[in-house]
Amino acid sequence: MVNIVIDGRKVKAKEGSTILENARDLKLDIPTLCHHDDLSPFGACRLCTVEVKTSGKWQLTTSCNTVVEDGMEVKTDSKKALEGRKMAAELLYYKYPETEAVREIAEKVGVDVSEEKGEEHDCILCGLCVRACREIVGVSALTFQDRGPGRDLEDPQIEFDPNSCIGCGACAYVCPTGYIKMEAEDDKRIIWNKVFKMTPCKVCGRYFAPEDQLKYISKTTGVPFNNLTTCTSCR
Ligand code: SF4
Ligand code: FES
Repeated sequence: MVNIVIDGRKVKAKEGSTILENARDLKLDIPTLCHHDDLSPFGACRLCTVEVKTSGKWQLTTSCNTVVEDGMEVKTDSKKALEGRKMAAELLYYKYPETEAVREIAEKVGVDVSEEKGEEHDCILCGLCVRACREIVGVSALTFQDRGPGRDLEDPQIEFDPNSCIGCGACAYVCPTGYIKMEAEDDKRIIWNKVFKMTPCKVCGRYFAPEDQLKYISKTTGVPFNNLTTCTSCR
């Protein structure tokens, strides 16, 4: 355990834990967009900015990827911390003014948001889909666009590898803006414009998972494919 102080409250924090985890244990409301409890931190949106005193100096840092240190002091609601969050939200809003998830968070931290409703579902490069695919699914069908000379700096993108994707939908599930769309059509699932054949449950007949996903699970776990063709409700 390490001793830290958050907003004047003494906290015994777990070694290796982040400022955000400890702040949330104290029920402090810190906005996040690129953070997910089950995924590695990424530090892309900077909405979780707080003020931290280390080596006698106060400075702004992102709380989702800053690990606590013994003696650390944190202010989550100081003028500087709130301004840092507002600035991060302003940058996002400036870039994605029509995206509802961005508008909501920007408004919450005090950015003057226009009254019209946001209709867009932009990719804000939070990296949640890339991390979910790699860390939870174990597939790595998504990557950030190549950092090489051909990279489009004005409009960076997520690259999709149709040969690796198993159609599981985890990326659509974690996407905070609705950019990744997953559609169902009879016995098909469409995601990233790739069409997946769905498998019917051998008990109730409901299409419940893409064939490619079940094949992948069978291959990685050694469970025969036929043992996987019953949906969770009928098991
Ligand atoms: S649907 Fe494809 S890209 Fe999305 S998480 Fe699953 S395997 Fe990765
Ligand atoms: S939630 Fe911390 S940088 Fe995005």
